[in-house]
Amino acid sequence: PETLKEAAYPRYFGNSLLSGHILNMSDPLFDFTAITQFSAATPENEMKWQVIEPYQNEFNFTGGDIVAAFAMVNNYTLRGHNLVWYSQLAPWVMNLTGTELESAMINHITVVMEHYKGIPYAWDVVNEPFNDDGTYREDIFYNELGPGYIETALRTARAADPHAKLYIYSIDYNIEWQGVKSDAMLSLAMNMTALGLLDGVGFESHFIVGETPGDIQQNMERFTAAGVEVAVTELDIRMPTPPTEANIMQQATDYSTVATACKAVAKCVGITTWGITDMYSWVPSTFPGYGYALLFDDYYQPKPATNATLAAL
Ligand code: XIL
Repeated sequence: PETLKEAAYPRYFGNSLLSGHILNMSDPLFDFTAITQFSAATPENEMKWQVIEPYQNEFNFTGGDIVAAFAMVNNYTLRGHNLVWYSQLAPWVMNLTGTELESAMINHITVVMEHYKGIPYAWDVVNEPFNDDGTYREDIFYNELGPGYIETALRTARAADPHAKLYIYSIDYNIEWQGVKSDAMLSLAMNMTALGLLDGVGFESHFIVGETPGDIQQNMERFTAAGVEVAVTELDIRMPTPPTEANIMQQATDYSTVATACKAVAKCVGITTWGITDMYSWVPSTFPGYGYALLFDDYYQPKPATNATLAAL
């Protein structure tokens, strides 16, 4: 196969999309590459709380609708991202306490999921609930509502769109399969699966070249053995810029490791890279000095990592 989506089939191969890039007519290669190479998408920011409910009970679906429409028109699998997260939260939420916060969270999940009901394949209901040491992140939801906020969020999501798969994120690059963060996620996943409230766990996979975990497949397998599906949800593999020939080749090996792992795990349903082209990647602004993390360069040209991924899928 010559395209990522064909190579990945029956799994999906996705990217993160911003509505502004979809609509930008002066950059036609964006939509062209999105349509020809990919079969799934996650809105990069448009469905996050600060964008979609910037003021209490005032919803703005403009950007999310553009991404959802693009997904429908192009027969994409859409991943809804995300409902409950400490980051990119609307400022008004930070002033709430106790039951007020709980009601706002329930309302947020319900209104957003009902708006998109039936369209997303899955929703990232709870995003990044753990610290790297496996303890719960002491964000506003945890501090005000206790760890039970996760069950409340999942229960609300299940009722709002019973056909959508419900996911929790994430496991990061620094987590080995025996790592405490991955262990904490696994035990949470088991508890929520037993209640019928969880369908999947997402591995974000923002990796550094040469540090892609060799045991990612084993780690996926212990989650699927616990009854959830897994997905690689935000893959990118960054390197210091400008890229060296050695790092470019190492990146090909690393992408191949991830693709091989997902292919080997029956319940790994797909891979999403966090963007299409390096030109728009979040990496250079978030990790200064790093870049070249995606499968298409600034000029939408494929890389050795692209060919390695095609070969591995
Ligand atoms: C990032 C986006 O890519 C940026 O554009 C934004 O400024 C910050 O968020 N984990 C997630 C994603 O779940 O939503 C984040 O996306 C990256 C880390």
